[in-house]
Amino acid sequence: MSKPSAPLSSAQLVEDLRKRIEHANYRYHVLDDPEIADADYDRLLRDLEALEADNPELATPDSPTRRVGARAIGGFAEVRHALPMLSLSNAFEQEGDGDRERYRDVAEFERRIEQTLGRSHPEFSVEPKLDGLAISLRYENGQFVQGATRGDGETGEDVTANLRTVRAIPLRLRGSDWPRVLEVRGEIIMLRKDFEAFNAYAREHGEKPLANPRNGAAGSLRQLDPAITAKRKLSFFAYSVGMVEGVELPASHSKTLQKLRDWGFPVSPEVGVAKGFDGLIAYFQRIGAKRDQLPYDIDGVVYKLDDYVGQREMGFVARAPRWALAHKFPAQEQSTIVEAIEIQIGRTGAATPVARLAPVQVAGVTVTNATLHNADQVARLDVRVGDTVIVRRAGDVIPEVVRVVPDQRPPKTHPWKMPTHCPVCGSALVREEGEAAWRCSGGLVCAAQRKEALIHFASRRAMDIEGIGERFVDALVDFGYVHTPADLYSLTLDHFLEMKQRADERDGTTPETVKAGKIATKWAENLVDAIEASKKTTLARFLYALGIVHIGESTAKTLASWLGRLEWVRSMPAAILRELPDIGAEVAKSIEAFFKQRGNREVVDALLKAGVMLGDESDPSPRLSQKLSLAALLQDAGINGIGLRNAELLTSHFPTIEKLHSSGATHWITAGLSSNAAANLDEYLTTRHHLDALREAEVAMHRLLEAIPKHAEVEALPLTGQTAVLTGTLSSMGRDEAKEKLEALGAKVAGSVSKKTHFVVAGEAAGSKLDKAQELGVDVWDEERLINLFKQHGV
Ligand code: IVH
Repeated sequence: MSKPSAPLSSAQLVEDLRKRIEHANYRYHVLDDPEIADADYDRLLRDLEALEADNPELATPDSPTRRVGARAIGGFAEVRHALPMLSLSNAFEQEGDGDRERYRDVAEFERRIEQTLGRSHPEFSVEPKLDGLAISLRYENGQFVQGATRGDGETGEDVTANLRTVRAIPLRLRGSDWPRVLEVRGEIIMLRKDFEAFNAYAREHGEKPLANPRNGAAGSLRQLDPAITAKRKLSFFAYSVGMVEGVELPASHSKTLQKLRDWGFPVSPEVGVAKGFDGLIAYFQRIGAKRDQLPYDIDGVVYKLDDYVGQREMGFVARAPRWALAHKFPAQEQSTIVEAIEIQIGRTGAATPVARLAPVQVAGVTVTNATLHNADQVARLDVRVGDTVIVRRAGDVIPEVVRVVPDQRPPKTHPWKMPTHCPVCGSALVREEGEAAWRCSGGLVCAAQRKEALIHFASRRAMDIEGIGERFVDALVDFGYVHTPADLYSLTLDHFLEMKQRADERDGTTPETVKAGKIATKWAENLVDAIEASKKTTLARFLYALGIVHIGESTAKTLASWLGRLEWVRSMPAAILRELPDIGAEVAKSIEAFFKQRGNREVVDALLKAGVMLGDESDPSPRLSQKLSLAALLQDAGINGIGLRNAELLTSHFPTIEKLHSSGATHWITAGLSSNAAANLDEYLTTRHHLDALREAEVAMHRLLEAIPKHAEVEALPLTGQTAVLTGTLSSMGRDEAKEKLEALGAKVAGSVSKKTHFVVAGEAAGSKLDKAQELGVDVWDEERLINLFKQHGV
C-alpha cells in the first residue's frame, strides 16, 4: 500500500476504499478472476468500517460496510413488480428415435418461431437454468434501492436487507452509461462448495444440515435477520432485465447480458449463442455432460430468441413468453413405494433411518435406498411403510425421500418409531440432549461401527488406502480379521487370500480358474502395498482418520498446524484445545474425551507401533504464545464477571493459579475486582473439579509453551515478547487493524496497563490507561511512532 505524500482527507480515503472493495467484488464475482486475497479484502472492509466509525458523517447507505442491516420486524413487506416476472414453458425428453423425436418440444419451439418470423435457423441466447430462487433488483441512478422475490410474478416480498448481504450483488453500478431506472432479474443460488461447507460445519457442530443448495438459497434469503443470511454464503447470476428507463438497451438479449456484466452483475460463464435446433441440442448436451462439474446446481438449460424485435413479435401465452423455452434435464425426482424403514449405524454410532424402496429409475440410476436423515425427519415427513414417496437424487448426493404422497397411503399404516436397540449389536440406542441423532451405545463392540470406522479410516482423504471397499471391509470384520484400524497393518498376503476365498464362498461367487487365482493374488498384493504405503501420512490426515466425533478435515488441520505433534494433541485438556481458532467447547471436549478413553489410546499406540509415520510433525506454533495465557484460560472458563479485562487484571497480580487461589477474595478486591466478580470467582475456585481443570490446563499450557522453539520466528519478529496496550482513537487506522499489525510483528496486545506492559499507544482522547502508563512509568508512543514502526517492517 503506497501512501501519496499529501495526506488524503477522510472523505477521499473512504471513497478510495469503497472503490477498491467494489473493484475486488467485480473481479471476484463477475470476472471470476480475483486480484487480491480474501484476507486483504477483509482488511479493506475493516479499514473502511473504522474510518466510517470515526467519521459517522461519511457513512452512506450504499457503503460496502452496510451490507448487514437491521432485521425485518414482523415479516417482509409486499413489492409489486414494475413489470411482471414471467415463467418459462418447459420441454422434456420424450420416447423416440433421433434428436427431432426425442426433443420434439424443442423442434416445435423452433418451428413456431421460424414460421411466425418467416426466417430459418434463428439465433438464441443459451443459458444454464439455475436451480435457485428468482429475484428482481431495482437500481435508481445506479444505486441498489430494492430487491424482491418473484412471489406470484406480480407481487413478491421485499428482501432488500438480505440481498444487500450478497456480495455478488453490486450496491452501486459500475461505469456511467446505465439507465436511470434498471430492474435486473436473476437467480439467487448457493454454490455447491458453500453448501458443502455449511453442512460440514453443521454436522461438526450438531446443527441441522441443509437438504440441498436450492433450499439453502431459499431458506437463507427468507431469514428475517439479515445477519443470518450474511453468514450463509449466497451467490447471484443475472439472466434478464425488467423495467428499464432512460437508456436504450442493445438490440439483443446476449448483448444485454454483456452490458449487465459491464455494469457489475455476474452472468453465468456458460451463457452463449446458438443457431437453430442443432445448435440448441448441441448446447443442451454439452451442458448436460458437464452438469456435475459445474460449481452450482442446474436443472436444465434455457433458450431465448436473441433479438428483441423477434421477441416482441412472438409475444406471450399466459405468463410464459413464446420466445423462450426451458429444456429440462431428466427429472431427479420420482415416486416409488417404501417397502421398509431400516436403521443404519454409522461410524460414530449415529443411527440413520433408511427407506428401502421398490426399485425406481431416477435420472438414469436405479435407486433402491434413500436416506431419511434422522428420526425427526421421519416424524416431520410422517413416512410410513407402504407409503408412496417422492425420492430425489442430485449429483452425487445420496438419494433422499423428499415427501409422502398423502392420498396414496394404504389403509392401516402406523407412524414409524425409532427402535430402542441397535439392529447390529443389540446395544441400547440413546439420544443426547440437543442432538438430532440417536446413537448406538455399543462403541467398537458394534460391528457396524467398526466397519464404518474402517471405511472412514481407509478413505481417500484420511489414510488413503486404495482398494479397501465396502464388501471387503464387511468380510474383514465379519470373519474377525480386523477389530480396530490398527489390525489392518498386521494383515499378510495369506490373510487376504484366505479371506477372499471365504467371502466368495459365502456370497456363492467362487471362481475356480487358474486365471482367477492369479487375479486374486495380484489384488491381494496391491492391497498389501497400499496398506504399507499408507503408513507415511500427515498428522492432519491421521487425526481425521481416527474418526473423532465432530472432527472433520478442517478441525484436524487446525489441530495439526497449531500443536504440531500428535503427542500435544492427545495430551491437551479441553481448556487448552478450545483456545485454538474455530474449536468450540463441544469440539474440544470431544477431542479430550476421545484420547482419554483407554481403547482409543491403545488403538493410536498400536498404529504408531505398526509403523504409521506422521512425516510432518513439528514444534508447536510460535503463534500459540499470543493465544495462550493464564488470562485467556481464566477468561474462557466462563465465570460471570471475569472477562478479558478482569482476567488480565487478576493475572497481573496473581500470575499462577496457585497464587490466585491461595490469595482469596479480599486480595482480589484490593487488586481492583468488583465484589460480585470476586464472589463468582471464589465460588468457581472452591468447586473441586473446576480448580483441578484450571490447574491441569495451566500445567499443560506451560508444557506446550516451553516446547515452542526459542529461536526461529522469535528472532524474526521485532516485537516478540512485548506487550502493548492501545488507547484512544487513532486517526489513520482502526484499533483492530493496529492490533492485528502489532500481533503480526509478534507483540501481544492487552486490554489493560500493568507493570508488564512494554508500551502504550495513545491516540486522540486517551484516558485512564494513559494515566496509568505514566504512573507506572510505561513507555508511551504516539500514533506517528506506531506508523513508522509499521512502515519500517512493511505491515
Ligand atoms: S428467464 C422470461 N433465465 O426459471 C423468462 N429463468 O420458469 C423469465 N431460471 O423463475 C425467466 N435460470 O427462477 C430465466 N437463465 C435463466 C434461468 C431462469 C433459472 C428460473 C427462474 C424463473 C424460472 C422460470
